Amino acid sequence: MKYAKMLAAILGVALLAVQFVRPAKNRSQPAPGSGIESAFPVPGHVMEVFKRSCFDCHSDSTVYPWYSEIQPLGWLLNSHIEDGKRRLDFDRFASYRPVRQYGKFKDIVDQLQQDEMPLGSYLFIHRYARLTTDEKEEVIHWSGAMIDSIRTHFPVDSLQRKKPDARPGK
Ligand code: HEC
Repeated sequence: MKYAKMLAAILGVALLAVQFVRPAKNRSQPAPGSGIESAFPVPGHVMEVFKRSCFDCHSDSTVYPWYSEIQPLGWLLNSHIEDGKRRLDFDRFASYRPVRQYGKFKDIVDQLQQDEMPLGSYLFIHRYARLTTDEKEEVIHWSGAMIDSIRTHFPVDSLQRKKPDARPGK
């Protein structure tokens, strides 16, 4: 019993201590002209869906929920943001090379068709972020049109991905 109490006390202190280790906030000013809307005609509806349901993890500005102030929840959120942004950043989309833009549009279609995005753990709390069937269809349809339009501008073999790209930047 004595040890159980001691253990609880140690855990309590540790939990308190980690509250002071806070990840930096994802709030940078996107470079002008690098957002997706600078390179592609994004309809208002589609942009609303991206902003409401995807921007927290796939843009340069996250709207932080209250629980992000509580560790380790804040760390978990931060790792989703870092991982999400590295793979797809709507605020940098215009600066991607065409082959990457092409691949990302295809990924968006895949992820939505398979109901993989937004992440389930996120939807659990952010219920408003769930896409309606209409919204999903609209985004998939629009992304398909962007895929077609990139195809008309670039030779198909220049759009093949050489290897899966998980690297930051280009
Ligand atoms: C809570 C954070 C979060 C939200 C919200 C979110 N994503 Fe993601 N997304 C991630 C993470 C983390 C990954 C990488 C790991 C994985 O695939 O599970 C990812 C991966 C992706 C990928 C794959 C990119 C690649 O290179 O493989 C696409 C496409 C994507 N997300 C699209 C979306 C879209 C579209 C939305 C909105 C409808 C969205 N995501 C909402 C966190 C998020």
